[in-house]
Amino acid sequence: MLKKILFVCLGNICRSPSAEAVFRRKAQSLSWGLVFDSAGTVANHVGEKSDPRSIDHAVKRGYLMTHLARQVGLNDFEEFDLILVMDQSNVANVNKVCPPHLQSKVKMLSDYCGNKSYTHVPDPYYGSAQDFELVLDIIEDAWVGFEQAHRS
Ligand code: 4NP
Repeated sequence: MLKKILFVCLGNICRSPSAEAVFRRKAQSLSWGLVFDSAGTVANHVGEKSDPRSIDHAVKRGYLMTHLARQVGLNDFEEFDLILVMDQSNVANVNKVCPPHLQSKVKMLSDYCGNKSYTHVPDPYYGSAQDFELVLDIIEDAWVGFEQAHRS
């Protein structure tokens, strides 16, 4: 039974905490008992609030981002049922830490997207407001596919 979902990106200050906030908000209208968290593959931003640009763009769409950055660890692969990453470099980095028998839990968030031009969630860190909006567009599209895929 799918219950605990971890989103993973590089720094855990832009994409994965955004996905955590969007999915948590959307899941409020379901009663599936889902639990969401996020983490980064690097430790550079551990303990920091999310990027203020991500927070601002999320707020405009009604999503609250309160996550403090943390690095993904070995325990996460046991604890979480599904690990949704943002791009192929995240897959490679996560699989350096994730034991082989648990790697089937690791999937691309964009696999759930209906818009097939969304093949990954591009890193917005050095980008523009448009790039931060695109992150939210892709996550919202992925939510629709996720909700359909896991509806019983
Ligand atoms: P994220 O974005 O992986 O979506 O959190 C980034 C955050 C920080 C950096 C790169 C990407 N950085 O280079 O510090």
